[in-house]
Amino acid sequence: MKTIPSPGIIFSLILGAFLIACQPSAPSKTDHQASENESPDYEHLAKEIMLKAKGTLGSKLVTAIKQSGAPYAIDFCATQATHLTDSVGEANQAGIRRAAKNFRNPSNTANQRDLAYIESIESDLKNGIAPKPSTLIADKEVEVRFPILTEELCMQCHGIINDHISTETYERILANYPDDRATGFEPNSLRGIWVINLEKE
Ligand code: HEC
Repeated sequence: MKTIPSPGIIFSLILGAFLIACQPSAPSKTDHQASENESPDYEHLAKEIMLKAKGTLGSKLVTAIKQSGAPYAIDFCATQATHLTDSVGEANQAGIRRAAKNFRNPSNTANQRDLAYIESIESDLKNGIAPKPSTLIADKEVEVRFPILTEELCMQCHGIINDHISTETYERILANYPDDRATGFEPNSLRGIWVINLEKE
Protein backbone atom coordinates (compact mmCIF):
# COMPACT_ATOMS: atom_id res chain seq x y z
CA MET A 1 0.00 0.00 0.00
CA LYS A 2 1.37 3.45 -0.95
CA THR A 3 1.77 5.97 1.83
CA ILE A 4 0.17 9.32 1.27
CA PRO A 5 2.30 12.22 2.53
CA SER A 6 0.66 14.08 5.37
CA PRO A 7 -0.37 17.72 4.82
CA GLY A 8 2.45 18.71 7.19
CA ILE A 9 5.12 17.10 4.98
CA ILE A 10 3.63 18.66 1.84
CA PHE A 11 3.70 22.07 3.51
CA SER A 12 7.38 21.61 4.50
CA LEU A 13 8.26 20.61 0.95
CA ILE A 14 6.56 23.67 -0.49
CA LEU A 15 8.14 25.94 2.11
CA GLY A 16 11.58 24.38 1.48
CA ALA A 17 11.27 24.92 -2.27
CA PHE A 18 10.21 28.50 -1.66
CA LEU A 19 13.17 29.19 0.63
CA ILE A 20 15.66 27.64 -1.80
CA ALA A 21 14.12 29.51 -4.71
CA CYS A 22 14.32 32.77 -2.81
CA GLN A 23 17.99 32.57 -1.89
CA PRO A 24 19.74 33.09 -5.24
CA SER A 25 17.53 35.99 -6.21
CA ALA A 26 18.91 38.42 -3.63
CA PRO A 27 22.62 38.40 -4.64
CA SER A 28 21.90 38.33 -8.38
CA LYS A 29 19.84 41.50 -8.05
CA THR A 30 22.82 43.26 -6.43
CA ASP A 31 25.19 42.04 -9.19
CA HIS A 32 22.82 43.33 -11.80
CA GLN A 33 22.62 46.73 -10.14
CA ALA A 34 26.41 46.96 -9.83
CA SER A 35 27.00 46.20 -13.51
CA GLU A 36 24.41 48.71 -14.63
CA ASN A 37 25.98 51.49 -12.62
CA GLU A 38 29.70 51.85 -13.41
CA SER A 39 30.63 54.15 -10.56
CA PRO A 40 31.07 52.28 -7.25
CA ASP A 41 28.60 52.93 -4.46
CA TYR A 42 30.95 55.15 -2.45
CA GLU A 43 28.39 55.85 0.24
CA HIS A 44 27.95 52.14 0.86
CA LEU A 45 31.75 51.52 0.92
CA ALA A 46 32.28 54.42 3.30
CA LYS A 47 29.42 53.29 5.53
CA GLU A 48 30.99 49.87 6.01
CA ILE A 49 34.28 51.47 7.07
CA MET A 50 32.50 53.97 9.32
CA LEU A 51 30.56 51.15 11.02
CA LYS A 52 33.81 49.25 11.67
CA ALA A 53 35.38 52.33 13.26
CA LYS A 54 32.24 53.06 15.25
CA GLY A 55 32.05 49.43 16.43
CA THR A 56 35.71 49.34 17.48
CA LEU A 57 35.54 52.64 19.31
CA GLY A 58 32.16 51.89 20.91
CA SER A 59 33.11 48.46 22.25
CA LYS A 60 36.45 49.67 23.67
CA LEU A 61 34.68 52.62 25.28
CA VAL A 62 32.04 50.43 26.92
CA THR A 63 34.73 48.01 28.17
CA ALA A 64 36.80 50.88 29.59
CA ILE A 65 33.76 52.31 31.43
CA LYS A 66 32.73 48.88 32.77
CA GLN A 67 36.23 47.99 33.93
CA SER A 68 37.32 51.24 35.51
CA GLY A 69 34.53 53.84 35.35
CA ALA A 70 33.89 56.98 33.31
CA PRO A 71 36.74 59.14 34.71
CA TYR A 72 39.27 56.49 33.66
CA ALA A 73 37.52 56.10 30.29
CA ILE A 74 38.21 59.81 29.62
CA ASP A 75 41.94 59.13 29.83
CA PHE A 76 41.44 56.02 27.70
CA CYS A 77 39.61 58.00 24.97
CA ALA A 78 42.16 60.79 25.15
CA THR A 79 45.03 58.45 24.35
CA GLN A 80 43.35 55.75 22.23
CA ALA A 81 40.38 57.10 20.23
CA THR A 82 42.33 58.63 17.36
CA HIS A 83 44.76 55.67 17.13
CA LEU A 84 41.83 53.25 16.99
CA THR A 85 40.04 55.10 14.18
CA ASP A 86 43.31 55.66 12.29
CA SER A 87 44.08 51.96 12.34
CA VAL A 88 40.62 51.08 10.96
CA GLY A 89 41.32 53.62 8.20
CA GLU A 90 44.74 52.15 7.39
CA ALA A 91 43.37 48.60 7.28
CA ASN A 92 40.75 49.76 4.75
CA GLN A 93 42.90 52.17 2.71
CA ALA A 94 40.71 55.06 3.72
CA GLY A 95 41.01 58.23 5.72
CA ILE A 96 38.76 58.41 8.77
CA ARG A 97 38.29 61.28 11.14
CA ARG A 98 35.65 62.69 13.45
CA ALA A 99 34.86 66.38 13.41
CA ALA A 100 32.73 68.63 15.61
CA LYS A 101 31.71 72.26 15.92
CA ASN A 102 31.65 71.95 19.73
CA PHE A 103 34.74 69.83 20.01
CA ARG A 104 36.47 68.21 22.95
CA ASN A 105 39.71 67.32 21.23
CA PRO A 106 40.91 70.41 19.28
CA SER A 107 42.35 68.14 16.58
CA ASN A 108 38.73 67.23 15.71
CA THR A 109 37.84 70.84 14.83
CA ALA A 110 35.45 70.97 11.88
CA ASN A 111 36.70 72.52 8.62
CA GLN A 112 34.54 74.61 6.25
CA ARG A 113 33.04 71.62 4.42
CA ASP A 114 32.43 69.80 7.71
CA LEU A 115 30.65 72.89 9.07
CA ALA A 116 28.41 73.15 6.01
CA TYR A 117 27.34 69.52 6.50
CA ILE A 118 26.91 69.95 10.29
CA GLU A 119 24.68 72.96 9.75
CA SER A 120 22.53 71.17 7.20
CA ILE A 121 22.06 68.22 9.60
CA GLU A 122 21.23 70.55 12.50
CA SER A 123 18.53 72.18 10.42
CA ASP A 124 17.19 68.77 9.28
CA LEU A 125 16.96 67.62 12.90
CA LYS A 126 15.14 70.83 13.87
CA ASN A 127 12.63 70.23 11.07
CA GLY A 128 12.13 66.57 11.96
CA ILE A 129 13.94 65.34 8.82
CA ALA A 130 16.02 62.16 9.24
CA PRO A 131 19.73 63.08 8.82
CA LYS A 132 21.35 61.67 5.68
CA PRO A 133 24.98 61.12 4.66
CA SER A 134 26.60 63.38 2.07
CA THR A 135 29.01 62.28 -0.69
CA LEU A 136 31.34 64.74 -2.43
CA ILE A 137 33.16 63.40 -5.49
CA ALA A 138 36.31 65.30 -6.50
CA ASP A 139 38.86 64.45 -9.23
CA LYS A 140 40.84 61.90 -7.28
CA GLU A 141 39.04 61.53 -4.01
CA VAL A 142 35.63 60.96 -2.55
CA GLU A 143 34.58 62.40 0.79
CA VAL A 144 31.59 60.90 2.61
CA ARG A 145 30.12 62.38 5.77
CA PHE A 146 27.82 60.73 8.33
CA PRO A 147 26.15 62.26 11.39
CA ILE A 148 27.09 61.12 14.91
CA LEU A 149 24.10 61.37 17.22
CA THR A 150 24.18 61.16 21.00
CA GLU A 151 22.45 58.44 22.98
CA GLU A 152 22.03 57.73 26.70
CA LEU A 153 25.53 56.20 27.02
CA CYS A 154 27.17 59.45 25.87
CA MET A 155 25.54 61.62 28.54
CA GLN A 156 28.01 60.74 31.33
CA CYS A 157 30.73 62.50 29.32
CA HIS A 158 28.85 64.85 26.95
CA GLY A 159 25.69 65.72 28.94
CA ILE A 160 25.13 68.39 31.56
CA ILE A 161 27.97 69.06 34.02
CA ASN A 162 27.18 67.99 37.62
CA ASP A 163 23.99 66.37 36.42
CA HIS A 164 24.88 63.65 33.89
CA ILE A 165 28.61 64.30 34.23
CA SER A 166 30.09 63.64 37.68
CA THR A 167 32.56 66.07 39.25
CA GLU A 168 35.28 63.43 39.04
CA THR A 169 34.65 62.82 35.35
CA TYR A 170 34.60 66.53 34.60
CA GLU A 171 37.94 66.95 36.37
CA ARG A 172 39.48 64.33 34.05
CA ILE A 173 37.89 66.06 31.03
CA LEU A 174 39.39 69.43 31.96
CA ALA A 175 42.77 67.88 32.82
CA ASN A 176 42.98 66.50 29.27
CA TYR A 177 41.03 69.22 27.43
CA PRO A 178 41.20 72.62 29.13
CA ASP A 179 39.23 74.15 26.22
CA ASP A 180 36.50 71.46 26.21
CA ARG A 181 33.31 72.52 24.40
CA ALA A 182 31.61 69.12 24.20
CA THR A 183 29.20 69.15 27.16
CA GLY A 184 25.54 70.13 27.55
CA PHE A 185 24.23 67.71 24.90
CA GLU A 186 20.88 65.95 25.09
CA PRO A 187 20.28 62.43 23.77
CA ASN A 188 19.56 62.24 20.04
CA SER A 189 21.36 65.44 19.13
CA LEU A 190 24.21 65.97 16.71
CA ARG A 191 27.50 65.44 18.57
CA GLY A 192 29.71 65.47 15.51
CA ILE A 193 30.33 63.76 12.20
CA TRP A 194 32.42 61.00 10.63
CA VAL A 195 34.39 61.97 7.54
CA ILE A 196 35.56 59.10 5.36
CA ASN A 197 37.99 59.75 2.48
CA LEU A 198 38.24 57.17 -0.27
CA GLU A 199 40.39 57.10 -3.38
CA LYS A 200 38.26 57.63 -6.46
CA GLU A 201 38.16 54.49 -8.60
C1 HEC B 1 33.94 58.08 29.04
C2 HEC B 1 33.58 59.36 28.47
C3 HEC B 1 33.00 59.42 27.10
C4 HEC B 1 31.83 58.82 26.67
C5 HEC B 1 30.92 57.91 27.44
C6 HEC B 1 31.65 59.29 25.32
N1 HEC B 1 32.66 60.13 24.94
FE1 HEC B 1 32.83 61.10 23.18
N2 HEC B 1 34.62 61.82 23.73
C7 HEC B 1 35.21 61.60 24.96
C8 HEC B 1 36.57 62.12 24.93
C9 HEC B 1 37.57 62.09 26.06
C10 HEC B 1 36.77 62.66 23.64
C11 HEC B 1 38.04 63.29 23.08
C12 HEC B 1 39.00 62.21 22.65
C13 HEC B 1 38.65 61.65 21.33
O1 HEC B 1 37.77 60.77 21.27
O2 HEC B 1 39.21 62.07 20.33
C14 HEC B 1 35.52 62.44 22.92
C15 HEC B 1 35.32 62.83 21.61
C16 HEC B 1 34.18 62.59 20.90
C17 HEC B 1 33.98 62.99 19.52
C18 HEC B 1 35.00 63.66 18.59
C19 HEC B 1 34.80 65.13 18.49
C20 HEC B 1 35.37 65.89 19.65
O3 HEC B 1 34.56 66.57 20.30
O4 HEC B 1 36.59 65.80 19.91
C21 HEC B 1 32.73 62.58 19.17
C22 HEC B 1 32.05 62.80 17.85
C23 HEC B 1 32.16 61.91 20.34
N3 HEC B 1 33.06 61.94 21.36
C24 HEC B 1 30.91 61.35 20.35
C25 HEC B 1 30.46 60.54 21.39
C26 HEC B 1 29.23 59.79 21.34
C27 HEC B 1 28.25 59.81 20.18
C28 HEC B 1 29.15 59.09 22.50
C29 HEC B 1 28.09 58.10 22.90
C30 HEC B 1 27.87 57.00 22.01
C31 HEC B 1 30.34 59.41 23.29
N4 HEC B 1 31.10 60.29 22.58
C32 HEC B 1 30.58 58.90 24.54
C33 HEC B 1 34.66 60.98 26.04
C34 HEC B 1 33.50 60.23 26.00
